[in-house]
Amino acid sequence: MGGPACGPAVEERVSKTQRVANPSLRSRIMSAEDAASLIAGGSTIGMSGFTGSGYPKAVPMALAARIEAEHAAGNPFRVRVWTGASTGPELDGALAKADGIEFRLPYNSDPVAREKINAGEMNYFDMHLSQVAPMAWQGFLGPLDTAVIEVSGITADGALIPSSSIGNNKTWLDQASQVILEVNGWQSEALNGMHDIYYGTDLPPHRKPIPLVAPDDRIGEPHFRCDPEKIVAIVETGAPDRNLPYSQPDEVAEAIAGHLLDFLAHEVARGRLPDTLLPLQSGVGNVTNAVLSGLMDAPFGTMTAFTEVIQDGMLDLLEAGKLSMASATAFSLSPEAAERFNGDAARFRGKLILRPQEISNHPELVRRLGCIAMNGLIEADIYGNVNSTHVMGSRIQNGIGGSGDFARNAYVSIFMTPSTAKGGKISAIVPQAAHVDHISQDVQVIVTEQGLADLRGLAPKQRAELIIANCAHPDYRPALADYFERAKVSSFGKHAPCLLDEALSWHRRYVETGTMKSA
Ligand code: COA
Repeated sequence: MGGPACGPAVEERVSKTQRVANPSLRSRIMSAEDAASLIAGGSTIGMSGFTGSGYPKAVPMALAARIEAEHAAGNPFRVRVWTGASTGPELDGALAKADGIEFRLPYNSDPVAREKINAGEMNYFDMHLSQVAPMAWQGFLGPLDTAVIEVSGITADGALIPSSSIGNNKTWLDQASQVILEVNGWQSEALNGMHDIYYGTDLPPHRKPIPLVAPDDRIGEPHFRCDPEKIVAIVETGAPDRNLPYSQPDEVAEAIAGHLLDFLAHEVARGRLPDTLLPLQSGVGNVTNAVLSGLMDAPFGTMTAFTEVIQDGMLDLLEAGKLSMASATAFSLSPEAAERFNGDAARFRGKLILRPQEISNHPELVRRLGCIAMNGLIEADIYGNVNSTHVMGSRIQNGIGGSGDFARNAYVSIFMTPSTAKGGKISAIVPQAAHVDHISQDVQVIVTEQGLADLRGLAPKQRAELIIANCAHPDYRPALADYFERAKVSSFGKHAPCLLDEALSWHRRYVETGTMKSA
């Protein structure tokens, strides 16, 4: 995971104590090491951070160094880490490298943490992102000891100006016994006013409807509330967010985008979508970012987005006026786009709203607004069950993220992928998914560079015929068709035919021989 070093231009933007405008809170400014010393071994920490933005950058590093020193002295020291979603190398990477994470939720894309999880050395609870805050409030996750939250400033009256992601910060600030703040001078001051923190979420039986009826509605406050008595430390930082750069769309990504845009145009022509489409949700990854790039030249009216993250492609659409506004919980920008945004963030005022992830991903809102959900996948089976998380059924890649929040509730739920992975050795279309995150009922359209399968209203065998014909790679299509024909004859039931001894044999072959192709 790369990113620009903290150079002079960045340092200049760090205006130290001016960002902490509250005089009494200034007295709690200290070093990251001193702040990290306030965190007890075995405790649970709620950290800010969502897809590489707005995560604390100094305290987790200092904590990792402390953990390494404790381990060198023969003392056990691990912590439980809750976040919004993935973070950056200074948090997940550093703590995992120090073998300091006992338990982690809810989404991870850090390679070091991934290895620990897949080696069975770290417990990881992968969950729907909209459910994290409610579950914390319901008491299902246990007590929260410390919140470590990056903010972009503190106002004179002690309110916290959020940073480049909201995630679960409101909940961590409310629930933690003690709060450590990182005030990051690298973040643009123009972020102030772009956030909408909704404080109206109650637990059943007192839960009320969320009064949001359009993606650009503001229903909350621009700042976090925080009891100043709980703030035990403030650390001033100036390091950039570190997201992965996006790869330039290749032929495969462009073909996927082309099929998808044709489908959307067809839906408009049939009167099933308005000319401005419906609020867009675009998942993480290179392919979904390529689709957003494709929308630049698409013949649609001015669109909106009600989504989880703002990627480079979405920023481009906003700048070009193709998108009037975007609601999300975080930025997920390449280092170049993040610098571009920070250089003149004020021009996005009124066009961007960042919300808590329980609101940005809220199933009821997604259903009511009628979002068009577009997410990536690891593999789909011939009936359209989708695996978004586990390679060969057991090695976690990232996590389900918000894909389940959106897919089940969308107006149209679209999944996309190249038809093969690992240089053609793996087919993304398999007889049976080795792990299922999205059941066939939640998967309405599958797109690969080969074509698109519109599965709405189709029975399992009809779905299989379409997916094999339209989405499978030609290298694997005959074997899939052969499997399906034999399954139709010999399967125990004939509704969704399956050969029990053979359904996962493609995965076994890959694990044993390094390819899904038969010799
Ligand atoms: N078998 C094995 N590995 C596979 C695979 C398969 N069937 N399909 C993809 N992969 C691997 C790729 O080889 C690549 O690995 P690498 O990093 O070692 O090269 C990695 O998974 C990412 O795949 P890529 O083709 O680059 O796709 P992507 O960047 O679009 O990501 C997901 C695809 C599924 C991993 C990603 O969309 C994801 O994490 N989804 C779940 C969360 C989600 O949908 N969030 C959005 C909700 S708002």
